[in-house]
Amino acid sequence: MRGLDGKVAMVVGGGSGIGRAAARRLAEEGASVAVVDVAADAADATAAGIAAAGGRGLALHADATAPEDVDRAVDRVVTDLGGIDVLVNSVARVPRRTMYDITPQEWQDTVDACLFSYFLTTRAALPHLVARGGGKIVNVCSVTAHVGAQLPAYSAAKGAVLSWSREIAVEFAHHGITVNTVSPGVIETPINTEVLRSDAVRATMLDAIPLGRFGRPEDVAATIAFLASSDADFVSGTDVVVDGAMIASTSWGTARTAWRTHDAAR
Ligand SMILES: NC(=O)c1ccc[n+]([C@@H]2O[C@H](COP(=O)([O-])OP(=O)(O)OC[C@H]3O[C@@H](n4cnc5c(N)ncnc54)[C@H](O)[C@@H]3O)[C@@H](O)[C@H]2O)c1
Repeated sequence: MRGLDGKVAMVVGGGSGIGRAAARRLAEEGASVAVVDVAADAADATAAGIAAAGGRGLALHADATAPEDVDRAVDRVVTDLGGIDVLVNSVARVPRRTMYDITPQEWQDTVDACLFSYFLTTRAALPHLVARGGGKIVNVCSVTAHVGAQLPAYSAAKGAVLSWSREIAVEFAHHGITVNTVSPGVIETPINTEVLRSDAVRATMLDAIPLGRFGRPEDVAATIAFLASSDADFVSGTDVVVDGAMIASTSWGTARTAWRTHDAAR
């Protein structure tokens, strides 16, 4: 992979899961990485891990849904690391509520975390990417932007992330800025630890993933690193699904397994 030596990356939500793996991977590829998270200890731990591996990490405590926090974080990145070349947004909040039981406040909080935070960080970072003469934005989206998952507020926000990212890819192309989304399927991170403790959920979800395993944060981080590198200079305004072929086959559900068993028995 080419093009990350000497670059500065800002990973929002870098304290855990996919964001943490992306921060580590970008640092391994040569970037200095600002790790921004509302959980200060988590940001510190990611940055310390990067430093222990010989890289340069800067931990920043910020609530990405608060404009003044975001502006302060971006200022610190520019002051301490010299600019911004790569912005990765990897924040979320996932209330498991149906359309019947979600409250207006839960809806708003979800949209704030999953969409408004991406808007705020991008708005604050863009002038610095423009000043560098180009850059990369990678927004972590979700397969729920493509298929229904009974997560109405989360999916609505993720659908918006997908279409909004295309918009800014077009708007900022003449500045040499690329904007892409990555849509993970089921990746084992703290966000879904609780639900994946259920044997029934694990088994049926695994059955829906043709590659036969859950994703790892590193699977998504590798795609993020590619989209952040100069190998992806001509890739913009698109989405890369990282789901083990889940949404390529999801409409078959458990029928897939039954069909295979039936054919094997003939
Ligand atoms: N894990 C999956 O299966 C999966 C699937 C599809 C999409 N995603 C997406 O991947 C991204 C990362 O999720 P994850 O699975 O790594 O979850 P995670 O909970 O492990 O990490 C999310 C991080 O965001 C931070 N965060 C939350 N609210 C914040 C705020 N207001 N300001 C700053 N930081 C904040 C958290 O402290 C945490 O460190 C999210 O956008 C999520 O929607 C995850």
